[in-house]
Amino acid sequence: MDISNGSVLITGGAGGFGGATARRLAKLGAKVVIADLADDRGAALAAELGNGAVYVRTDIMSEEAIINAVKVATDLAPLRAVVIAHGGPPAPDKGGRTVGRDGSRVSLAHFSHIISVYLNSAYLVSSVAAQAMAANEPQADNQRGVIINTASIAGFEGQPGQVAYGAAKGGIISMALNLARDLAPIGVRSMAIAPGTFYTFAYAAMGEEKARETFGPLVLNPKRMGEVDEYAMLAQQIVENDFLNATTIRLDGGQRF
Ligand SMILES: NC(=O)c1ccc[n+]([C@@H]2O[C@H](COP(=O)([O-])OP(=O)(O)OC[C@H]3O[C@@H](n4cnc5c(N)ncnc54)[C@H](O)[C@@H]3O)[C@@H](O)[C@H]2O)c1
Repeated sequence: MDISNGSVLITGGAGGFGGATARRLAKLGAKVVIADLADDRGAALAAELGNGAVYVRTDIMSEEAIINAVKVATDLAPLRAVVIAHGGPPAPDKGGRTVGRDGSRVSLAHFSHIISVYLNSAYLVSSVAAQAMAANEPQADNQRGVIINTASIAGFEGQPGQVAYGAAKGGIISMALNLARDLAPIGVRSMAIAPGTFYTFAYAAMGEEKARETFGPLVLNPKRMGEVDEYAMLAQQIVENDFLNATTIRLDGGQRF
């Protein structure tokens, strides 16, 4: 997919994975739309990128906001790629093991919240973006656009206490193939990246040093956390390589929890 005359929408675009990907895709000439709730970081990144990049305040829990973000992108240029890499609001109550040692149970409200943040929103962004891509002029081989979702190695293996997050990310893994099947007739590819542990803003509360000391040794080789540009490199390859479709690529240094 040639995105040089197109637009790209990145949810969580001001975040770790989103920001690194925005920088790479902007260098390919695309007009980047940063959809996020981090106003300062989002606006600063749009200014840094230039070339028509814009920050659009977007809550991924809102269908209206997602439709608006896609419209902002299509108003700039044909939407050629969407990268879905957002976090979301905290759950209303505590997570943990399905049944804890104290006998308490993770609530349905908690489970549903995590599914909404990571899976429902990803379906919504994917489907609204694909609808817009269907109107694009096709490139060679009938290619109109590409969707990149962010799964997690938790969607394959997970860990104790991750039933909701693991189910949401397992849903993303399944969706990569199913979206690809549904969208093939309109020339839209669908892929997912399943990262291991990367240092991003998500670990800021823990502190960088502690996060790297804790998670780096869990990786097989190299023995460190992933760097966000390693995610962005893969996202760029997925955009550019039209034969990548319908699967989830692990990006984890061999980590198996
Ligand atoms: N960092 C990792 O190790 C890792 C591993 C596997 C999967 N992931 C996944 O990668 C994705 C991105 O995470 P990250 O590590 O880059 O985190 P991050 O915190 O760096 O970025 C997430 C971004 O989402 C934004 N955001 C939060 N709530 C939002 C909302 N309601 N609407 C719109 N934007 C919102 C944040 O402002 C932030 O900029 C997530 O889906 C996460 O599950 C991360």
